[in-house]
Amino acid sequence: MRLFLVSRLLFTLACGAFVGRLDAQAVQSTPEPWRPQFHFTPARNWMNDPNGMVYYEGEYHLFYQFNPFGDKWGHMSWGHAVSRDLVHWEHLPLALPEEDGIMIFSGSAVVDWQNTSGFGKDGKPPLVAIYTGHREGRQDQRIAFSTDRGRTWTKYPGNPVLDVKMADFRDPKVFWHQASSRWLMTVALAAEKKVHFYASTNLKGWRYVGEFGPSGAVDGLWECPDLFPLSVEGGGEKWVLIVNLNPGGPAGGSGCQYFIGDFDGSRFVVDPPAPTPGVAAAPRWADHGADFYAGVTWSDIPKSDGRRIWLGWMSNWQYAQDVPTSPWRSAMTIPRELSLRRTADGLRLVQKPVDEMLTLRGATPLRFPGGTFAAAAEWLLEQKGLPPQLDMELVFAGINARSTFTLRLQTGPEESTAIVVDGARARLIVDRTHSGKMDFHAKFAARHEAPLRITGGRVILRLIVDTSSMEVFAQDGETVVTELLFPSAGPRTLGLAKEGEAPLVGGITLHTLR
Ligand code: FRU
Repeated sequence: MRLFLVSRLLFTLACGAFVGRLDAQAVQSTPEPWRPQFHFTPARNWMNDPNGMVYYEGEYHLFYQFNPFGDKWGHMSWGHAVSRDLVHWEHLPLALPEEDGIMIFSGSAVVDWQNTSGFGKDGKPPLVAIYTGHREGRQDQRIAFSTDRGRTWTKYPGNPVLDVKMADFRDPKVFWHQASSRWLMTVALAAEKKVHFYASTNLKGWRYVGEFGPSGAVDGLWECPDLFPLSVEGGGEKWVLIVNLNPGGPAGGSGCQYFIGDFDGSRFVVDPPAPTPGVAAAPRWADHGADFYAGVTWSDIPKSDGRRIWLGWMSNWQYAQDVPTSPWRSAMTIPRELSLRRTADGLRLVQKPVDEMLTLRGATPLRFPGGTFAAAAEWLLEQKGLPPQLDMELVFAGINARSTFTLRLQTGPEESTAIVVDGARARLIVDRTHSGKMDFHAKFAARHEAPLRITGGRVILRLIVDTSSMEVFAQDGETVVTELLFPSAGPRTLGLAKEGEAPLVGGITLHTLR
């Protein structure tokens, strides 16, 4: 016990000193006060969707929509980075530049293990990227390949490989469909709110085999689809179809919806069918925050690993081009591991920060062992001068229809972001209406609500905070809310307050991050 107290004291002092030093720098000279530290950002310029995510020879590749010439959307090309652990990223040179007036829009990449494309060299499989070629009024699908671990890319001279002479036909995501031994492409007919399925034996010739939609949320353009089998916790597997759409998301603007069902190689059938014939089922959202878009998964993660991992663009088309960061714009979310969970309301998509995130945690967490709400609130107040990067877990018990409480990340005297658990309405709310700089866009300052399934009176929150973002994972990843914040530089504190009946606090753990 004494040892624990002494080490905690030393830790608090060290942390304080560290934060103090950081603050002084932040205020006086840090030119990038909102640069995330463990979320991927381009060194400079504009970024949107993640693209071409593929794992090969120990490296996770992350390509992304990138403007080499400016900090707003334009001249779309594929930027490139690699990581061995999903938390440290190395920037690589531009992979696919805009050329001859054709922009490189979103798409995917695969390892062509059997060299079906013939692009392989010296008995090694090629990496093949499948992307949309965009020019005014026309979008088609194109490919490029690499035989040097993604370091250099050659555009296929026979491009385009799929052209149906449409203006809104984009974002091909390709995977090897084991059961039919062929490549499968999902591609969005954005304006028609449809996903088309195409099949190929060599990645060069594509044949239409089926389609899905409109269904679920259909207000905006359908973009960046993905389709993959996913394990159900406790056993079993279902197919998940991801459809990003903009606008029409749950928090306004961009959003990411998903469908669960079966896929036979050409038909995707949603499961279970809508309860009332003719009445569409309510859309299911992967993330209820404002800032998760273009979520797509990594290809070719080895079977021995077995995970399905994705990330999204941590922004929203409503204001992405106006966020006050410089000289870069936009970050990706942290990578998240996906699974399905059986709940009383049917299957739900579950997301958890990848375990690699744990390697960033400092040695000694700050811990409240559990107790009354008042004791927990007092303990939190004592944890002064928290740094801008935090990973924390909070467990609440005894929540009923009369308990509403708020966890507040205080970033200045009048400045905070609130996470509200509303027991009566079974809602999790993130309120960023007082979160710092907000005047860059009228739609930014808002409260965003998510459904929260509370069973046995318990709520478990995991919060990942990095300088200018907050990702809230509630109920072991069942409800996720991702939000950008642009707070003042300076020490942060946490507060707990309640309206109505106080729940118990099962425990709080605060990890600072390296
Ligand atoms: C989604 C999107 C894609 C498109 C890309 C262009 O954010 O609109 O549909 O390929 O961005 O940058």
